[in-house]
Amino acid sequence: MNQDELKRQAAIKAVEFVPENEYIGIGTGSTVNHFIRALGESGKTVKGAVSTSRQSSELMAQYGIPEIHPNEVSSLPVYIDGADEINHLLQMIKGGGGAHLSEKIVANLAQKFICIADESKYVSRLGKFPLPVEVVPMARSMASRELVKLGGRPELRIGFKTLNGNEIVDVHGLDLSRPMEMETRLNGILGVVENGLFAHRPADVLLLAGKDGVKMLT
Ligand code: 5RP
Repeated sequence: MNQDELKRQAAIKAVEFVPENEYIGIGTGSTVNHFIRALGESGKTVKGAVSTSRQSSELMAQYGIPEIHPNEVSSLPVYIDGADEINHLLQMIKGGGGAHLSEKIVANLAQKFICIADESKYVSRLGKFPLPVEVVPMARSMASRELVKLGGRPELRIGFKTLNGNEIVDVHGLDLSRPMEMETRLNGILGVVENGLFAHRPADVLLLAGKDGVKMLT
């Protein structure tokens, strides 16, 4: 089974966790695209979903899943999303698709964050994947100098703008052995809007697909 098929297996499993006739949260990425398709084809009915990107909204529309704005809900029973890396505490690096700000907002509205991933995403230590950091364009150089002081090597994601008109720097080489501390510290840099560490709000459930099937880790 290739990586994409494993992503699809995890996504199909996640449909079982979707409560009917409720609003849910939907993340962004290729694994989530499989989830949207699987939900659409499952015959399960949700009241609607909060989306985290244009890409997810468009696919939701194709499958007749109504979209609701995050300001219209105070809580969501579940949020389904992928990850770029995830550790045994279910802390994650996210933002490979540049949507980590909206993903963190919707994840924090959710009672249960269900992460769907293929086994290559499960790591003993976070940080091989460069950490996406969303920055206000006029502060990009200033914020990058601060990221260098923290031991990182920031690289501008060329030609990319976030939903909010900001830029992303992908930071290599940061020491993420204390993910909660680093998440807070990075967000304290002037000009940083949000970073892709999900340590304060980890996942609650990981559906991890490997060649022996989909394992559930909590
Ligand atoms: C987008 C994300 C995605 O969840 C992450 O990049 C994983 O993507 P994929 O499912 O395509 O491997 O955080 O901002």
